[in-house]
Amino acid sequence: MLTIEQMSSLKGKKIYVRVDFNVPQKGGVIRDDNRIRAALPTLKYLVEHGARLVVMSHLGKIKWKEPDPAKIEEMKAANNLECAAIRLGELLPETKVYFSKDNRGEELKKAVEGLKDGEILVAQNTRYQKGEEKNDPELAKEWASLVDGFVMDAFGSAHRAHASTVGVPELLKAEGKEVALGYLMLKEVENLSKCVEPKEEDRPYVAILGGFKVSDKIKVIDSLLKKCDYVIIGGAMAYTFKKAMGMNIGSSPCEYDQLEYARTCLREANGRILLPVDAVVTDSFEPVEGRKILTVDTIIEKGGKIPEGFEGCDIGPKTREFYKEIISKARLVFWNGPMGVFEQDAFQEGTKAICEAIRGLKGKAFTVCGGGDSASAVKQFGYKADFSHVSTGGGASLEMIENDGHLPGVDVLK
Ligand code: 3PG
Repeated sequence: MLTIEQMSSLKGKKIYVRVDFNVPQKGGVIRDDNRIRAALPTLKYLVEHGARLVVMSHLGKIKWKEPDPAKIEEMKAANNLECAAIRLGELLPETKVYFSKDNRGEELKKAVEGLKDGEILVAQNTRYQKGEEKNDPELAKEWASLVDGFVMDAFGSAHRAHASTVGVPELLKAEGKEVALGYLMLKEVENLSKCVEPKEEDRPYVAILGGFKVSDKIKVIDSLLKKCDYVIIGGAMAYTFKKAMGMNIGSSPCEYDQLEYARTCLREANGRILLPVDAVVTDSFEPVEGRKILTVDTIIEKGGKIPEGFEGCDIGPKTREFYKEIISKARLVFWNGPMGVFEQDAFQEGTKAICEAIRGLKGKAFTVCGGGDSASAVKQFGYKADFSHVSTGGGASLEMIENDGHLPGVDVLK
């Protein structure tokens, strides 16, 4: 694969740069600009080499199946990418950064033609076009016709085979134009590849999975069981496993249609799936005054159970110690998904314990946080610098592991 540094002369060339500016925002106020900052090395390199950049990204979700056109317009307004273009302009004060409210048609074409060397045009949210997510050939053709080359730096979107991530580079490649990986993509692919193909010196390789649903993680659990020595489970998905083992889980969330899978998985894992031995439970998920919060044992053989009317919201203190001990021996760690409802102070300890254990591995192991909510927790609790790599893509890093290193937005560049 070609990297941006290997591209032939960039001066005066129009380059389509797909970034992932899918930042958390409300009404145009960005809560976390990490993804915009993460694209800066690539954008700066291209600007310094005199390219004219057409920057495209999606933001949020537009549900095109919605029958009421007014609702579609509301979704569009809620996901206007202009806020990201403004933020980019602030982060690159020396560079002219324009925003085009059109992302198709004559106005966009004129704006691209008007760019000078080293200038950036951010176009409106790619998902404003119905054809984006369907990889519509006409849309991809129009976008490809605007430029002389393509740089992929949207790791967070590399698992989506959309017009802007796959259609455009496919067409440009067919025309003999250069398509390349940006710096963020390179870093992400290189670091996550270590979790895809562990070497002997990476043993023990420990994966930590949390989050809500087993069904979301089936493929990654199956894949990790082939690669890892241990798969540690936390978060709400742990209760589906516990239920499958026959435990009384009170009012904890459970995916009843996944119980059979969970049983098979536990049998085949042969002791390599580790589950919580205790849990922090509450009689009210809502932080109302007077709610009860207890710690209960969850080892079935010892009569562990969650009382009726209570639900598990975090791993308990014994589990924290147990998991820390396992992690302390690891040489490679992949983590995706918090251990509990870390958004509430009462249920943060489990997720913090994982961060602490990983801090203890600094300099001794390669540790990866695979994006999403766990990446937000790592940042919120101040542990980002303790990880070897914190990914900008939650779904993409999981899919990269599931598919043995393959992602549509990467494979197209090969
Ligand atoms: C993400 O936030 O994971 C990426 O930007 C992909 O977004 P999507 O799930 O809406 O495609």
